[in-house]
Amino acid sequence: MAGSEVTRPLLEVENLRVELATRSGLVHAVDGVSFHLEAGETLGIVGESGCGKTMTALALQRMLPRPGGRIAGGAIRLGGEDLLAKSEAEMRDIRGRDMAMILQDPMSSLNPVMSIGAQVAEPIRAHQRPTRDGLHAAVLRMLDAVRIPSPAARAGDYPHQMSGGMRQRVVGAIALSCRPRLLIADEPTTALDVTIQAQYLALLKDLQRDTGVAMILITHDFGIVAKMCDRVAVMYAGRIVETADVRTLFDRPAHPYTRALLEALPSMEQRSARLMVIDGQPPDLRAPPSGCRFAPRCTLATTACLAEYPAATTLSPGHVAHCIRAGAP
Ligand SMILES: Nc1ncnc2c1ncn2[C@@H]1O[C@H](COP(=O)(O)OP(=O)(O)O)[C@@H](O)[C@H]1O
Ligand SMILES: [Mg+2]
Repeated sequence: MAGSEVTRPLLEVENLRVELATRSGLVHAVDGVSFHLEAGETLGIVGESGCGKTMTALALQRMLPRPGGRIAGGAIRLGGEDLLAKSEAEMRDIRGRDMAMILQDPMSSLNPVMSIGAQVAEPIRAHQRPTRDGLHAAVLRMLDAVRIPSPAARAGDYPHQMSGGMRQRVVGAIALSCRPRLLIADEPTTALDVTIQAQYLALLKDLQRDTGVAMILITHDFGIVAKMCDRVAVMYAGRIVETADVRTLFDRPAHPYTRALLEALPSMEQRSARLMVIDGQPPDLRAPPSGCRFAPRCTLATTACLAEYPAATTLSPGHVAHCIRAGAP
């Protein structure tokens, strides 16, 4: 990179489109999504269930459901390299070494018949070719880094011998064991109870500070966004409707959908997994409407909103919203 004057973002996603062929028709799960991520930065992706967050995350790893899922268009560049041009073998290398993912349900990403130590060792062995002693030490270091007490004693445990919170820590250890530059965490704490959730988020933050890993944190919880993220992208019906740094988004939300989400934010006492409620349903992604996709649920909508998809309005540097009223007095 020496000599280059403009450093590129770590991750650049341009006009990404994901299609899922289902028995009931073609689902346009992600329909023209663009965003970028700087090294070490945390971007939150928020939105109601079904708006395309998980498919966006899976597309970045080229791990869409098969058969049926495909990247139908757009570009994904990691460290300037075009991920859509990589072979399957090259992608396998990139996954785990350069980017890693933490999923909502730790049980689904752990092997029930393999000790946790062996599972943490696997990616290290695959990507770093360490010596036997070096591998053992690296495994214990990772278990220690995710604050698993007495790692040497626990390394031989199987997932069912651990609590949900401890299992999610193991998933974190596996994801970070090769020091990826990018970590994608898809609702990583939804399955955990509130106290364990707070501990896990604090842990992720510590690990990020120590390793400098950039993070995409997918959540439906703005409380988590406030605690964890630098910037946020609000997704609705397969598209990003508003992006801003976290402070700006909370102080001056411009899109009625963002405002509705913020108004639906439960108080700390009431917080539970799925309290976000806005009247009406998101549109059917087999046949999304041509105008603003939120218009049918928007209290401010006019006929103009139904005519065509609203262009991007830049409200301040880095603050962009797709609403014809954004920026209007
Ligand atoms: N395996 C699948 N097969 C068919 N459609 C799916 C599948 N997974 C998700 N979808 C559809 O794709 C769209 C986006 O889903 P998803 O990315 O999982 O949303 P989110 O993570 O925001 O809740 C939704 O309309 C959902 O119904
Ligand atoms: Mg999801």
